[in-house]
Amino acid sequence: MRFPDHGLFLALLVLAALPLHALAGAEQVRADIANRVRGQYPTLSPAELASGSAAFDPARQAQAERNNPVPGAAEAIEAGRRIWTRKFAKGRSLAGCFPNGGRRIAGAYPQYDGRVKRVVTLETAINQCLKTHGQPLLDAGDPGTMGVVLAYLRSLSEGQKIAVRVSSPQAEDRFEEGRRFYFTRMGQQNYACASCHVHHAGKYFGDTAIPAPVGAAAQWPYLRDGRPVTLQMRVRECLDRMGAAPFPAGSDELAHLEYFLAYLSNGIAIRPNAWRPRQDAGNL
Ligand code: HEC
Repeated sequence: MRFPDHGLFLALLVLAALPLHALAGAEQVRADIANRVRGQYPTLSPAELASGSAAFDPARQAQAERNNPVPGAAEAIEAGRRIWTRKFAKGRSLAGCFPNGGRRIAGAYPQYDGRVKRVVTLETAINQCLKTHGQPLLDAGDPGTMGVVLAYLRSLSEGQKIAVRVSSPQAEDRFEEGRRFYFTRMGQQNYACASCHVHHAGKYFGDTAIPAPVGAAAQWPYLRDGRPVTLQMRVRECLDRMGAAPFPAGSDELAHLEYFLAYLSNGIAIRPNAWRPRQDAGNL
């Protein structure tokens, strides 16, 4: 009996049976996309890419500088702080559900929670806390409540580097779902997210330079007209323009997409409450 031959045969059989992502993995996917962007734009650092369209567009960059301090940011953060510290019955609060009152936690989100077998975003974690204390949940699509809470909560992690982990086969599966979503063509226009953000990053769509995928999870909530727009709210706008049925904010689909996007931003500092222009016909 020649074990080595058998061994090789078996190894090939096992390799063939594994789904591709189990071989590639989140880290390989991240590195491939980062290399592609770096190859196209070698002079732009990941931190610069995080400024979205402005990274490619000097006029947008100048506009962003004129809007600093960001109009409405201080008010949104203060409104969020009030909700964050408001006492429930028995003296508890949202702040009490998180280590250090929520300071420097944002970089680790979203995270895969093996106990509930779900990807937990900051929104999910906030609503889990409210549910535990018998409080009404916040609508993950509402800038006036969830948006302002996140404006405050993420301000407590300003400067922290994103360090999202994908460290189990189950977590890899959720990441892969997010990746697949990003690369799948859908909607009336038959675009995938990647058609624009990967294949045409930095090119113009109408009047607007298309942001790169690297860094897209660093600066949210974005402040637009004084209203905090979360990553999921922003993604829903792109979905809407694609003519695809927008998944609701707070859905598992958008959580997986956010998990994927946040992982691509690993190592980049969180700079929340960044200015973005008002939406009009010319912008996507
Ligand atoms: C037709 C091209 C196109 C498609 C398809 C598209 N986007 Fe966008 N997206 C844009 C443009 C252009 C902007 C910039 C808008 C602006 O800042 O004015 C943008 C902005 C964003 C931003 C905010 C980036 C920032 O820092 O300001 C995110 C996040 C994003 N898109 C994610 C997605 C996801 C996820 C999908 C798929 C569900 C998607 N986009 C599909 C063109 C597209």
